[in-house]
Order: sequence, then C-alpha cells, then structure tokens
Amino acid sequence: MREIEKIEALRRWRKSLPADCTVALVPTMGHFHRGHLSLMQRARGENDLLVVSIFVNPIQFDDERDYHRYPRDQRRDLELARQEGVDVVFAPDNSDLYPEGYCSYVQVEGMTDCLCGASRPGHFRGVTTVVSKLFNVVRPGRAYFGKKDYQQYLVIQRMTRDLSFDTEVVGCPTVREADGLAMSSRNQHLSAGQRESALALYRALKRGRAMVEEGSRDPEEIEIAMRQVVGEHTEVEIDYLQARDAGDLSRPKRLRRCVLLAGAIYVSSTRLIDNIVVQVGEPQEGV
Ligand code: PAJ
Repeated sequence: MREIEKIEALRRWRKSLPADCTVALVPTMGHFHRGHLSLMQRARGENDLLVVSIFVNPIQFDDERDYHRYPRDQRRDLELARQEGVDVVFAPDNSDLYPEGYCSYVQVEGMTDCLCGASRPGHFRGVTTVVSKLFNVVRPGRAYFGKKDYQQYLVIQRMTRDLSFDTEVVGCPTVREADGLAMSSRNQHLSAGQRESALALYRALKRGRAMVEEGSRDPEEIEIAMRQVVGEHTEVEIDYLQARDAGDLSRPKRLRRCVLLAGAIYVSSTRLIDNIVVQVGEPQEGV
C-alpha cells in the first residue's frame, strides 16, 4: 500500500496507470469505523485499484471547536486500510489542498438550503469543494459515499452531474451498531448514558417509517410523532426531524414515491445525524 501526501505525487501515480485500469475513490476524514470499511470493501470488489483519502477538511466545519476535537488516528487508519487491500492512501495536508490565497469554491444551490445545510451554513460548500478537488486529482471512475449522510450523497451526485465529472457516484447503505445506532466517528464522544439517549433518534425514525408504511403521507403528522419519541429524553436537543422527498429533498404537502425521514440531534455538545428511506411507490432514479 502506498501512502501519498502530495497532490503532485498522486497525479504522477495516476498518470502511470494504463488507460483501462478502473480506479475507485473513497473520500473520508479518517478515524475509520465499520461504516468506512464497508465502503472500501464494496469499492475493492468493483474496481482494479482503490484510493482512500484521509483529510479532515477545515472548510466544511462551521464550528472551529468541532474541527479541532474531530478524532484523528492516522496510524490505526493506515493499518485498517492495509487490511482492506487499499492500494493508495492519499492524506494531503492543509497547505497542499488550500495554499496561501485560496479563494475558489464549489456550491450546489437549492438542495443545500435545508436539513443539515440549514443548520450548518457553508458546510456543503466545503464538502463539494474538497470532493471536487479530490475528483480532479484522483480522476476516479467510481466514488463511494455512505447514505448515512444522505443529503451529502445527493448533493455530491448532483454536483457530479452538473459539473460533468467523469465519475459514477455510488451510494452505500448505513452501517449500524448491534442496537441500531448509526456508526459515526462522533459516537466516541458519548458516555454510556448519552449513548442510550442517542438511540432515541433511530427510534424516532423507525416510528416515522411505521407511520409511512401504515399509509400516512402527511409530513407534518409524521414529524410531530417523531419529535414526540425524542422528546421523552430530556438531555437530547432536536436540531431537525423531517419527512421529505428522497429524490430532491422537497417537502410536498403529501409524500409520495420515496420518503426520506431524516434527523439531527444534539446529545450534550455532540451532534448526531441519521436517516431512513422508505419506498412508497415506484423507485426513483438514484435513490
Ligand atoms: P466521513 O464522515 O469520514 O465519512 C466518509 C464516508 O463514510 C462518507 O461517505 C460517509 O457517508 C460514510 N459513512 C460514515 N458513517 C457511515 C455509516 N455508519 N455507514 C455507512 N457509511 C458511512 O463524509 C465525510 O467524511 C466528508 O464529508 C467527506 C465526504 C470525506 C468530505 O470531506
């Protein structure tokens, strides 16, 4: 496994490959858990070569404290990547990706205004900018993203189409702990009691799913019921809990086709997100 830090070195490696070689990219911010590893396993099986990037991207954090306390463990990550058969770990540093005087950004409009985009201004601009840069450097045929970050997956899919990147965006299922808690690097900030409270989010989403499956199509009714489930936990603060169209994130009066139930909560100062997609009609493209 190669460890590459410099953009120029990565480009040299990429140019040395035969034209018919399929290259996959799994972009990450490191501190791997089974969610990250599942993306690598899928990508490993579908492509000739696998590049995993590790970069805690400062421009996607709206809160500097969150950026500084984001967990990092490069040594462990490199070992896990090696075990997964990764060919290249690309771990650039800040000054290589954002040199002095950096002032160019990629922005997907509209669908970044709601859900996480509404509560984290600038977050998706930071994500789409860094992912564009990674696409330009690695030139992957396929790039793999988790549906745990459903809005991110959709935004990147739209950006890739709109900007004509020659990359297929592949969405992968959310990996959960045995009790249902979605795997996240942020889970390690939770005490045992807080972890129990964090489960309220998934419970609320499951309540929403049951309502949709029983025929409810009114987003407001579903949101009220989901909020009630989380409301039973006093130490949990709701950022948002919403029912939307899973194809374009709109919030119609009556839900149809494919429904996204998505939530973000704070357990103490730790922000956690999760979602469930429920199919209620004909499958939509890309969902
Ligand atoms: P990070 O949070 O490290 O996640 C890297 C990838 O792993 C993302 O595609 C994310 O959706 C996926 N992932 C995280 N938890 C998962 C889980 N429980 N199940 C399945 N997949 C999961 O997302 C980012 O980094 C960054 O925003 C990035 C795209 C790298 C841009 O900086």
